[in-house]
Amino acid sequence: MNAPYDAGLLERIRKDLSSEPKKLFIDGEWAGAKSGETFETKDPATGDVLAEVASAGAEDVDLAVRAARKAFEGVWRQTKPDERTRLLLKLADLVEQNGAELALMETLDVGRPIAFSRFADVGGAIGQARYHAGWATKLYGETTEVSAPGEWLSYTLREPVGVCGQIVPWNFPLAMAMGKIAPALAAGCTVVLKPAEQTPLTTIRLAELIAEAGIPDGVVNILTGFGRTAGAALAAHPDIDKVAFTGSTQTGRAIIDAAKVNFKRVQLELGGKSPTFVFDDANLEKAIPAAAMSIFFNAGQVCAAGSRLFVHEKVADKVLEGVAGMAKMLKVGGTLDPETQIGPLVSPEQLERVTGYIDLGKQEGASVLVGGNRIGESGNFVEPTVLLETGPEARVRQEEIFGPVLCAMRFSDDDDIDRLAQFGNETEYGLSASIFTSDISRAHKLARRLRSGSVRVNGSGGVDPALPLGGFKSSGWGRENGKAGAEAYTELKAVTVEL
Ligand code: NAI
Ligand code: MG
Repeated sequence: MNAPYDAGLLERIRKDLSSEPKKLFIDGEWAGAKSGETFETKDPATGDVLAEVASAGAEDVDLAVRAARKAFEGVWRQTKPDERTRLLLKLADLVEQNGAELALMETLDVGRPIAFSRFADVGGAIGQARYHAGWATKLYGETTEVSAPGEWLSYTLREPVGVCGQIVPWNFPLAMAMGKIAPALAAGCTVVLKPAEQTPLTTIRLAELIAEAGIPDGVVNILTGFGRTAGAALAAHPDIDKVAFTGSTQTGRAIIDAAKVNFKRVQLELGGKSPTFVFDDANLEKAIPAAAMSIFFNAGQVCAAGSRLFVHEKVADKVLEGVAGMAKMLKVGGTLDPETQIGPLVSPEQLERVTGYIDLGKQEGASVLVGGNRIGESGNFVEPTVLLETGPEARVRQEEIFGPVLCAMRFSDDDDIDRLAQFGNETEYGLSASIFTSDISRAHKLARRLRSGSVRVNGSGGVDPALPLGGFKSSGWGRENGKAGAEAYTELKAVTVEL
């Protein structure tokens, strides 16, 4: 997994980032914010400032929405589906060609270890673009028979929703930006996208590649800025037809409130508190690393992180020892070190939040099997941590921590499948779940009973653009990815003609 990087390229990136403030991308042009305001983005491993970036406000949002509206009514509407496919595939190729640069940039801005940013961020973005490119020519309506008297021709049309506001978080900036832009463009929509204020850099570079790919001006507009200003203005703008958001449950609620002005379509991919179940007949060689990495990968800053582990008492000692062993073995450290497996949390705010939860867990009576502390004095590093003996009501077991903190619980033969499903469903979330067992019936029975947008059996891994992604309950509204994700950028129209 070693991914040595090019020191000359790193030098060029740093020089470019520090040369002058990065601008907004509106209607194919680069411009500073109307207010002239900027903000700094930092390297979470060191706290060093990487770049100054334009801070968009309501005026800039308005300009970007106008550009997106003009493109939607004009050039993009005239662009045929197969041409949209070609443009998205071209964009994917450009991201691939510039992969080394984008990976380094992401590592600097997010704190992702360099060994992971190439496949998680760059590979993720390419996969999204190539998958969704195909949908441009495959979205269509149906014909149906109606029961009214007379002879009728009745059919449905799938039309693009329109201008979309898209708001992205900081954990996988490039892959998530592409995961929002690509299905929108495939469906014929235009976009105003805001990356997270912590991690704007690869999205700015993506805008350059969007222009280079030949995607017409105004089809994609990129506004860097804060949630309470640029983000809120996007969610409330009366000429945006749909808002797609990934982030916290709390901000998701604010988006719903703002969107009601013009009944925007709202797509929300929110938090999770996802369970992993390990039965006594599981292949532990697979289950142990999967349970560990599903919470420790990316320092737990993953919406689908497996943050609650339910393990059968017969194998619990072995599994917990294995997970704790991995927690101790994983190399936490500098993000440019190719050996590093766990980087810092994205910001001092997240560091405070995560260490706050660990302290809370102790107060709530949990014992710490491994980890439990901040590492060092600089950078936002936290030890991979396992908490035992958390009660079902404990906040650390109910709330999304978004750090490398696992709550582990034992179950026994007395807990039948319905009881286990109850454990799985005990939080307000319902995003994802994992099951390890060699009993096929048990796996499927539990999968049916879990109120969860996705269930993985006997395997590990991340997002696949072919699989719908989203949650039950407070984990959100709607689905991204797969056919459902592509169709979510369309409106359905029924046409019926008396012949
Ligand atoms: P957040 O939800 O506030 O931020 C995500 C995005 O929303 C950013 O682009 C931000 O600028 C924007 N935003 C913030 N307030 C907004 C508003 N009022 N209107 C429109 N856009 C707004 O999340 P934050 O504060 O960065 O992280 C807090 C917690 O949220 C994390 O600890 C984690 O639990 C959760 N989270 C979940 C993510 C996921 O993948 N589901 C990703 C990031 C955070
Ligand atoms: Mg940053």
